[in-house]
Amino acid sequence: MPKTYSKLTIIIHWLSALLIIGMMASGMIGSKLATDAPLRLTLIKSHGTVGLIVLVLTALRIILLFTSKHPENLEMSSWRQQMFAWNHRLIYLVIAGLTLTGVGMLLTSSIGIAPLNISPDAIVDSLPRTIHGILPKVFLVLLIMHIGGVIHYQIKHGKTFARMGINRS
Ligand code: HEM
Ligand code: HEM
Repeated sequence: MPKTYSKLTIIIHWLSALLIIGMMASGMIGSKLATDAPLRLTLIKSHGTVGLIVLVLTALRIILLFTSKHPENLEMSSWRQQMFAWNHRLIYLVIAGLTLTGVGMLLTSSIGIAPLNISPDAIVDSLPRTIHGILPKVFLVLLIMHIGGVIHYQIKHGKTFARMGINRS
């Protein structure tokens, strides 16, 4: 078993983390601005463009999950191991859901997969839009648990950041 995740998994993890946190910010700030505010238009266009990049990275990541060797489970009680594993699985599921409902929103609004054509008033009410409004809140809870879990493990036992390419033992 390798001691760390594969190089590609590590690069995708940190690159996606940066982009997804940016997506949360652009989505949340954009949705609070007036529909005709110029900043809202800029934010929503970049949100859609970066969202498609996150979609590709997430697909690649799911492939890697099944094809690259992962380090063995961290040493901890079995219920904690289950919590860790479920947190990761649900993060994957919610990110996939966010990207797919994002695309779904564009398709139901007849914008097509052309993020630069998005304008806030063109988005119509639809099931993908409703789900896309709920999932960011679920994601925030999972992310707080994820960050809390890895920092807690790192402080108590070390190792976890080194497994994700940040060299602290
Ligand atoms: C949007 C943000 C993030 C997402 C979607 C995310 C997702 C994940 C996932 C799914 C894993 C399991 C490994 C894999 O399959 O790639 C993981 C592992 C890890 N993440 Fe994150 N993460 C995010 C942000 C962060 C942040 C901000 C930190 C640092 C505080 C962090 C630290 C770690 C560490 C240290 C591991 C390795 C856990 C282990 O030892 O097995 N992540 N992350
Ligand atoms: C990791 C991926 C994503 C995250 C974290 C994310 C997050 C968000 C958030 C927080 C909002 C504001 C929701 C609200 O409070 O009303 C939002 C809105 C929006 N997102 Fe995303 N999103 C993601 C992917 C995408 C993708 C792939 C697209 C399209 C290609 C997209 C298109 C939109 C649009 C058009 C809105 C405005 C919705 C409206 O006017 O009701 N998003 N997103």
